[in-house]
This record gives sequence, structure tokens and C-alpha cells, in this order.
Amino acid sequence: MIKINSIYNLDCLEFLAKVDNNTADVAIIDPPYNMHKISWDTFKSHKEFLAFSYKWIDALLPKLKETGSLYVFNTPFNSTFIMQYLLSKRMLFQNWITWDKRDGLGASKRRYSNGQETILFFTKSKRYTFNYDDIRLPYESTARIVHASKKGILKNGKRWFPNPKGKFCGEVWHITSERHKRKKNGKIQKMEHLTPKPCELVERIIKASSNKNDLILDCFVGSGTTAIVAKSLSRNFICNDKEKKYVSLANRQLKLIEAK
Ligand SMILES: C[S@@+](CC[C@H](N)C(=O)[O-])C[C@H]1O[C@@H](n2cnc3c(N)ncnc32)[C@H](O)[C@@H]1O
Repeated sequence: MIKINSIYNLDCLEFLAKVDNNTADVAIIDPPYNMHKISWDTFKSHKEFLAFSYKWIDALLPKLKETGSLYVFNTPFNSTFIMQYLLSKRMLFQNWITWDKRDGLGASKRRYSNGQETILFFTKSKRYTFNYDDIRLPYESTARIVHASKKGILKNGKRWFPNPKGKFCGEVWHITSERHKRKKNGKIQKMEHLTPKPCELVERIIKASSNKNDLILDCFVGSGTTAIVAKSLSRNFICNDKEKKYVSLANRQLKLIEAK
């Protein structure tokens, strides 16, 4: 039996074997990408990487409730394979989210520089939580919005007034990466974890796809972002990472927010 609001230090498959079926409301999965920058992200071949990815997907899907949502991070290239696999498992596709990292990683003179990651959003059924009102964003065309707030804009024969909470959230997310945020005088700083996700990004996912006291699962929690954001939004979590040093880091960060 898994203890709620804890971070385990196991291989993902061992961890998932301990989780009861049909328990998680949301799974936020930021797995290895096979980028060969660090040992935990290095596989002998693309085939081996996919075999690993399909194994954790098979182990994970039964853990989601029928009303559950799944978010999977990866490169756009790898996401095409993960997407096909999830479709073959009868998961329901909702969105291909493009995360514009506001950062340039692979500057290239032979092709376009890459600065995006993919977040696949799938659900297990049509009955799922989506709190669109909680993730609205500020309108961009301010002059038009000022005008519309006073008199409304005629749309399909009806007067449309802007929502005071902002516009609907789209599929392209412009959120600065931690790597870019932490640069000093343009220089990359060494971080305790190579690829921490911005809290703002995970916050959007948790707010949209869960309610207070729901259970969020993350079997590759790294620096602890999912656990930290879940806690600060009054959600429960069950998290895991196979690297002891990251589990310690995640627990340290959790203690800091508990002390606040
Ligand atoms: C992309 S990082 C996750 C980063 C995290 N989202 C954050 O915000 O810090 C992937 C994580 O998966 C972990 N990992 C890699 N292989 C694993 C495995 N087989 N089982 C469990 N964790 C694994 C790594 O230690 C790493 O921390």
C-alpha cells in the first residue's frame, strides 16, 4: 500500500506495482527523453527507449480512475510514438500542447533552433474534470478589450463581453524554462536537477484537471515540482523517483513550503 503525500525512491515499475488500480485523478508524467545528457536519460537505442516508455505506460494506465487525466511530456519527435501507443490503448486524445520554453537549446545553422517540448493530454473517458475558468489568461488585444468591455462586440448576432477572468487557455504555452529563468548575465547556472519543470506550468495542469483533495501521481518527480505544486493547491500526491539525491531535494523543497 502506498502512503499518500509521500515521495518514493524506487524504479517507476516497482513504484507503480505498489499503487492500487483506479486511484489517481491525474498523472503528470515527465519521463526520460533519451537526450543522452545524463545517465538516467540515456538508452542504447531509440527502440530500447520506446520499449521502456511502453512499459511504464502499461503499468501506469490501470492506476488512473475512469475519470482520470494523463499528461505526458517529451520531445515532439518522441511524442508522435507515445501518442500512437496511447491511442492503441484506447486512451482519449484531448490536446497536443506545445510548451514554448522561451529558451533556445539547440541553436542550428542547418535547421530551425528548437525551443519547445510537447505535453500530451489524454483522458481515460469522456467524464473528466476540466476547470477551464481556473486557467484563464489575460487578453492580449487590450485596446479591443477596453472597447468591448464598454459596449460589447457584435458576434453572430449577439453582443460579446470579455470575461473579467481573461481568455480561454490555448494549446501553446509560453512559459520560461527554469534553465533560462536562472541564467545570470546570460550564463547557464548549474542546477541540482538537470530539467526541473516550472511550477507555473504544473500549476496550470493541476488546476485544470483536478479539484481539492484529488490525487496526483508522478512516477518521475525529479526535483519535486508535482509534489510541491499539488501540496500548495491542496491536492494529495503520490510521487517517486529512482535517484535518491532527487528524492532528498524534493523532500527539502516540500519542507520549505510547509514552513511558509
Ligand atoms: C525529466 S526528469 C523529471 C523532472 C521533474 N518533472 C521536475 O520538475 O524536476 C525525469 C526523472 O525521471 C527519473 N527516472 C529516470 N528513470 C527512472 C526510472 N526507471 N524510474 C523512476 N525514475 C526514473 C530521473 O531520475 C529524473 O529525475
